[in-house]
Amino acid sequence: MQVEPLGPERCDALLTFFAELPEGDLTFIKEEVTDPETVRSWATATTPGGRWVAVDGERVTGYVAVRPLPGWSDHVGEVRLVVAPSARGSGLGRQLARRALVEAVGAGLSKLVVEIVAEQGAALALFTDLGFTGEALLRDHIRDRSGELRDLMVLAHHVSETWAGMDTVGIADELGACAG
Ligand SMILES: CC(C)(COP(=O)(O)OP(=O)(O)OC[C@H]1O[C@@H](n2cnc3c(N)ncnc32)[C@H](O)[C@@H]1OP(=O)(O)O)[C@@H](O)C(=O)NCCC(=O)NCCS
Repeated sequence: MQVEPLGPERCDALLTFFAELPEGDLTFIKEEVTDPETVRSWATATTPGGRWVAVDGERVTGYVAVRPLPGWSDHVGEVRLVVAPSARGSGLGRQLARRALVEAVGAGLSKLVVEIVAEQGAALALFTDLGFTGEALLRDHIRDRSGELRDLMVLAHHVSETWAGMDTVGIADELGACAG
């Protein structure tokens, strides 16, 4: 499994990946991911932040993005991560999240946030292990596909504060390798 920056050659495979996701998972990606024009525009965008895909041959099996927030929060990046159901549980989510963290820190972002529906145990475990901590609980903040209200958690990673923590998970080494 290889992780690479999203380029135009992967757009069709990425569209297929999104089209095959269960509807509930699309909640985590706020953009219009089933619209070909939107996805193609990502591959050519020059906006800050980044998008990466995991590929297995011609297939896209995972997607992660870091989107800087606008205006006075442009030092903050929002992470969006999703792995194909058939590829879950083998470390790909963790690999993609680490890649996003390394690239975001390298790009100078000093805080990262991720929004997680309260029941998403796997996402919570994954981001907590990477040094994210709970920063807000927004009660009844989203409606799921059946119209039920669900809580949303905002986890945050303050880069400077958690630098020591990053050391323990080996990410500082990766950053050093990137800088070199
Ligand atoms: C969250 C998600 C990206 C995890 O992807 P993944 O490839 O399965 O993750 P990994 O295999 O790297 O697992 C990472 C950790 O999650 C936890 N985990 C994985 N599957 C789990 C499960 N079914 N139940 C509970 N915890 C689980 C484990 O702690 C695991 O660490 P370990 O391998 O050391 O035990 C994936 O479930 C997904 O796409 N979910 C829908 C979208 C979403 O929730 N996105 C997050 C918010 S943006």
